[in-house]
Amino acid sequence: MSTIKDKVVIVTGAGGGIGSATAALLAERGAKVVLADRNLTAATRVAEKIESDGGTAVAMPVDVTNRSEVANLVAAATDRFGRLDVLVNNAGVGPVSYLHELKVDEWDLMVEVNLRGVLNGIAAALPVFRAQETGQFVNIASTAAYTTSPTMAVYSGVKTAVRAVSEGLRKEAGPNLRVSVVSPGFVATEFVQTVSDEQVREQLLQQRDKFAISPDAIARAVAFAIEQPPEVDVNEIVIRPTAQS
Ligand SMILES: NC(=O)c1ccc[n+]([C@@H]2O[C@H](COP(=O)([O-])OP(=O)(O)OC[C@H]3O[C@@H](n4cnc5c(N)ncnc54)[C@H](OP(=O)(O)O)[C@@H]3O)[C@@H](O)[C@H]2O)c1
Repeated sequence: MSTIKDKVVIVTGAGGGIGSATAALLAERGAKVVLADRNLTAATRVAEKIESDGGTAVAMPVDVTNRSEVANLVAAATDRFGRLDVLVNNAGVGPVSYLHELKVDEWDLMVEVNLRGVLNGIAAALPVFRAQETGQFVNIASTAAYTTSPTMAVYSGVKTAVRAVSEGLRKEAGPNLRVSVVSPGFVATEFVQTVSDEQVREQLLQQRDKFAISPDAIARAVAFAIEQPPEVDVNEIVIRPTAQS
């Protein structure tokens, strides 16, 4: 029987892409999933599909940049299911661009969602995990946390910060808590649609349609990190298309 069965798992950004694939796979393996997304309609659609397939799922409207909304999310999940086993900090945006274009509002958005959103998740769940003396963070970074390229500077910087924070958290967390970073390469989702520069977006869409892998591949990596025995802490998984340079 899967060790994922009956675990209570929150997935942020679960209304689409990697988050919805992850929530669906974990629910299929018996987890009780709480789907958080700023787009409640999308998260509800995914939760209803999971329930109609026999799983347990609830959807909540949450903007991860809002600390109190994330705190409420964790409180609601623990109220509803009595505990929290895993927080998958997945919500993210990627409006990448050349620095000289000075799209500073988009830089700020990436910092807010991709980094502050993760910090808000840690602030909300860490006290619960410490009180329970068990719990796992799965933070979704990116291959851009290991390398960068033109247009990716801010996105890479923020995802590198997610890796650094995760490693610091792991070192502080002690023997009972687990911290996993899952870093995808190009995945076939709507992520690229947040790119406002038309030329950059077109290039990325062409690459995506040529070689991006399914979000199900990332969901399986997340499940692998979760399903290990409690004393086994899978710290980093990097998973990219074979065709990605
Ligand atoms: N796709 C890739 O190639 C790729 C590669 C490496 C890493 N990643 C990472 O994987 C994660 C998921 O990406 P994805 O490809 O699945 O993207 P996606 O298809 O765009 O899905 C992201 C989901 O997060 C939601 N979201 C965005 N901002 C939010 C916020 N402030 N609060 C709550 N929810 C929010 C989005 O809602 P809306 O629909 O309202 O925007 C969307 O439902 C991100 O952290 C991303 O950086 C993706």
